[in-house]
Amino acid sequence: MAIITTIEDLRVLAQKRVPRMFYDYADSGSWTESTYRANESDFQKIKLRQRIAVNMENRSTASTMIGEKVAMPVAIAPTGLTGMQHADGEILAARAAKKFGIPFTLSTMSICSIEDVSQSTQGHPFWFQLYVMRDRDFIERLIERARAAHCSALVITLDLQILGQRHKDLKNGLSAPPKLTLANMINIATKPRWALGMLGTPRRQFGNIVGHVKGVENMGSLSSWTSQQFDPRLNWGDVEWIKKRWGGKIILKGIQDAEDARLAVDSGADALIVSNHGGRQLDGAQSSIEALPAIVSAVGQQIEVHMDGGIRSGQDVLKARALGAQGTYIGRAFLYGLGAMGQEGVEKTLEIIHNELDLTMAFCGHTQMDTVDKSILLPGTFPQ
Ligand code: GLV
Repeated sequence: MAIITTIEDLRVLAQKRVPRMFYDYADSGSWTESTYRANESDFQKIKLRQRIAVNMENRSTASTMIGEKVAMPVAIAPTGLTGMQHADGEILAARAAKKFGIPFTLSTMSICSIEDVSQSTQGHPFWFQLYVMRDRDFIERLIERARAAHCSALVITLDLQILGQRHKDLKNGLSAPPKLTLANMINIATKPRWALGMLGTPRRQFGNIVGHVKGVENMGSLSSWTSQQFDPRLNWGDVEWIKKRWGGKIILKGIQDAEDARLAVDSGADALIVSNHGGRQLDGAQSSIEALPAIVSAVGQQIEVHMDGGIRSGQDVLKARALGAQGTYIGRAFLYGLGAMGQEGVEKTLEIIHNELDLTMAFCGHTQMDTVDKSILLPGTFPQ
């Protein structure tokens, strides 16, 4: 096997090893995918200023996110169907995050359940991402389950009451577990590692949902499932309702606009995530890194600002940090590692990003995360 040194190496390997419908689910955006592409390409436009002859000894990438110590300002993002990229995917990624000392966020739409992840990480706190569904009793029970699992924050996703159309998912007939059509069987037959892993685990359905919501046995298609279960009426009143019931830390995900950021502050949340859902919802929206500075200048003094979207390297993490993000999230970057090599692959993702972040911070003349600011960026190359 070729030596893995970049996130792109992991992506290439994941594409070989993961059945097409699940690889495509992770690696696609909505409609023309313009926002999905911009998330990555806008990072490339930002140039760093190299400094020389600065003492680079004793460096640390450690920081905090919502007051929790993190080994670097990177958390694992909530991603749906992670346990379909690799058997027991959420458990493996949570273990890798724990080992590395960064937060893991479990999606409502995970394959491994809240309880599975909690047990397999020996009660180590993780964050739980909540989708607001029509069935409020189910939401209340989910909140209680997250509390029982000692989740230390609730991440409420606010940009997916309805689903942006992803052509590949429709064409592949995405479902979990996969429908055994001839095309799927032929494709899966070429992924023996994946298939063996899946045969060895009982976790092949939505662990947080199946058995907890009456009548839900499997997802069918993602778009029909979302339109049946997700609540299109979601509003700020729901955020208030959830905040009261939860009583703990809240992170609001999916903010792109300064006006919404102000409403997020009014809601009393602890942090917000500047996010366009990995370019999977409103195609044509700004990239996250482009949207970040306006939000930081509008509300950065009142609420902790995080961002996700397009992070494929430690350089990207540093640029986001320079533009005011206290923390960042990786979605696809860890999914590639997971699909390529399971837990070892997620650990590899984290090592690669950490190493890039550490060295790039040093080249820019800093030895600590907390002193990094806009001055490391070349004027005229970054969004304001
Ligand atoms: C769900 O979160 C998705 O983007 O598919």
